[in-house]
Amino acid sequence: MTARSGFAASALRYYEAEGLITASRTTGGQRRYERHILRRLAFIRAAQNIGLSLEEIRSALSNLPEGRTPTPADWAKISRAWRGRLEEEIEALVRLRDGLEQCIGCGCLSMKRCRISNPDDQAARYGSGAVTLPELLREDRRHPHG
Ligand code: FES
Repeated sequence: MTARSGFAASALRYYEAEGLITASRTTGGQRRYERHILRRLAFIRAAQNIGLSLEEIRSALSNLPEGRTPTPADWAKISRAWRGRLEEEIEALVRLRDGLEQCIGCGCLSMKRCRISNPDDQAARYGSGAVTLPELLREDRRHPHG
């Protein structure tokens, strides 16, 4: 399963502990994953690539009836919703790039003038609750365990 899914065994154990996937046990106590879990893992990987946190992935999965693995129709609907999110990330990156243009050849790193190094301006630029980098660039959110 590890090779087929492209996930490390530790990641599979983590997702199981987090309740995102389930595994049955062989008589020898080894984990076994049903076929539909591969599809669930593909969903998790797609969500991570979009930049969703584990909490958001959990929420998306728990919104499905009876905790089912996303059907093609589910995925078609959810992926449409995520498109908007990706657009926001792209816009944030464009703003970041434009801010950086000002820094090229400058070197001041002034907290007053530099749009990139000024955390307050940055937070205002990305909206409430935002941090200095677009979510897409925060590796820790994308691949917590490989
Ligand atoms: S380093 Fe001077 S504006 Fe950013």
